[in-house]
Parts: sequence; structure tokens; C-alpha cells
Amino acid sequence: MTEKKDFLRDIWYYALPGSLLKPGKMMAKTFLGEPVLLARKHDGQVFALRDICPHRAVPLTCGRFDGQEVECCYHGWRFEESGRCTAIPSLVEDDALDLNRFRVKHYPVREVQGNIWIYMAAKDSKKEPSDRDIPLVPYFGDRSYQMMVTLRFPCFVDHAVIGLMDPAHSPYVHRAWWWKSGRVLFEEVKAFDPSPYGFTMRRHEIPNLALGYKLIGGAPETEISFRLPGVRIEHVSTKRHNVCNLTAVTPISENETDVTTILYWTMPWITALKPIMKPFVRRFLDQDRQVVTKQQIGLQYDPTLLLIRDADTQARWYYQLKAEFERAKSEGRDFVNPVKEQVLRWRS
Ligand code: FES
Ligand SMILES: [Fe+2]
Repeated sequence: MTEKKDFLRDIWYYALPGSLLKPGKMMAKTFLGEPVLLARKHDGQVFALRDICPHRAVPLTCGRFDGQEVECCYHGWRFEESGRCTAIPSLVEDDALDLNRFRVKHYPVREVQGNIWIYMAAKDSKKEPSDRDIPLVPYFGDRSYQMMVTLRFPCFVDHAVIGLMDPAHSPYVHRAWWWKSGRVLFEEVKAFDPSPYGFTMRRHEIPNLALGYKLIGGAPETEISFRLPGVRIEHVSTKRHNVCNLTAVTPISENETDVTTILYWTMPWITALKPIMKPFVRRFLDQDRQVVTKQQIGLQYDPTLLLIRDADTQARWYYQLKAEFERAKSEGRDFVNPVKEQVLRWRS
């Protein structure tokens, strides 16, 4: 397979953890190569606009935000959350200019379970975003997360996604005393089912418990789902407790991808351990980042990459899901999940 650097469009992407955007503040972030302004009004509502003033292209985030409207720093044009221009200070009283002509592009955003999602539409797309397509962690209802870590990977989105669902790298990349030592590989047999825009590794008991899982206590079971454009949700449960981990990739540009991992849990005593745990979570994610950084050295030479048998089947499904997503869109029909129920075996 050779690489084509296209982004999926008409789909929700993870924008950022909601706690990073305080009321009355705005921030700049690039998504899929587009400069975006994200702001939270005083009433808590989040909105997103193209971060380029339609007058002379100064980034709107260079201006001011009063908790209601954004004001450009160059000539003071003002814009409200829908992107409508509300004021052009240089106009004289009886100027009959229709301000509606100077809209800035507005992006649909939603905040759920503490996460802000942004809908990246295709150019001239007629498709309406549906809130039902926003990935949700099970069990935790409206609750927000307890811990989050974001790292920027220096790669195209596909390599970050494949790292999320690649079972064979774990004993080599994530060697640590509290995780897996790498010396012994176990044979794994896992059943998979198709699920919305992706697939799910069927709920099973976790064999050969790594210390990270032992912390939960009891005999934990896990279910791991993946869905486009790059969201992995793991739900670990015991008789008494639940832990969810959502990991989402967000393409920043063709060569940069944010990977955010977020944890939800029900064990109150873990909350006290949070300051100790966070560096471990960061280290774990950084191990993925480091190997992907090394991979960039080889990718410069545009080699053909291989996907082999069961250990790489999830990666292959990812490419098939992406291709079907695009095909269904261009043919104007519903998405048909290419993944069929299947058992995969590998050693890791
Ligand atoms: S460039 Fe923004 S108001 Fe002129
Ligand atoms: Fe990993």
C-alpha cells in the first residue's frame, strides 16, 4: 500500500478537552489544515469560526473576545457565534451596506462528556451533521472525564490511528514494569463484531493482567471499540467498578496529529492518585509518539508498507472503512460496514 494524504470530511473530530477553554476565552487551533477559532461565551456555550477575518485576513484570535462577540484587531469588525458580522466601525450612520455579506465560516461544535467535538464538512457539502454520530463513552452519562493527556505526533493521521489498534507493538513499544515486560508473548484470540463506522472487540476477561489493570481490582472484563475517523473507546468493568478510556486522533495538518487520551473512572481512591498516575499515562502515550517519530525517518523514502495477517487486520479494516466512507458519500448512499464478524489470533 502507498500513502494518500486525504482527510475524511463530513464527520466529527475530537477538538479538545472542554476544560482547556475557559468562559470568556478564545483560542486558535488548526484542524485538517484549516485555522479555527474556538471560543466559550460567558454562558458556557462553545462556538467555532474560521480564524481569518474576511476583511483583510488577520486571524480573528489576534483580536478581542468579550465573552459574546469577537472583534478583529485590525479595523474592529465584529462577529457573533454564527459567523455573522455585527459591526463595521468605519461605516457612517446612513451607509446601507448589508453586513450579512461579510460572514465568516462557522463550524458546528458540541460539548459532551467534557469533550468538544467539531464537525469538519466537505466543501459545498449538503449533509447535515447529526449529534447521534458523536462518539460517547458508555456508562458515564453526562459526566466529564477525570484525566486527560494530549500529545502532538509528527505524522499523518493514519499512522497515529494504526498505532491505536495495533496489538503487536505493545510488548516492544510499551515495555515498562507496570505494564508488560516484553519477554513473554501470549497467544491472543479475540472475537470482533462490526459496530457503527467501525468494529468492536467483543467483551472478554482480561488475561495476564498488567499492573495498570490490577489497580481496578476484581476480575476486569474489557470491550474495545473503534470508529472513524479515529476514536478508540475501551470500557473496563468489574462487578463494582467501571473505567473508560477514550483516545481520539485529530489531524492538525498532513504531518501533525494530536492524540488525546481521556480517562473516566468510578473508583474514588484513584482520584487521590491522579498526580502520580498522570506522568505514567503521558509516558505510555509518549512511547507511541516516539516510535511514530522514528517511523517518519523511513517514510521519507516513500516505501511500500505491509499489512500482514491477523495482527494487522484491524489496520486493514481501518483502510477499508475509510474507503467505504468515501465511496458511500460519492455514490450518495448509506455507509455499509465492510467489517464482518470474525475471530482474530495473534501473539503479543
Ligand atoms: S482585517 Fe479584520 S477588520 Fe480589517
Ligand atoms: Fe501503543
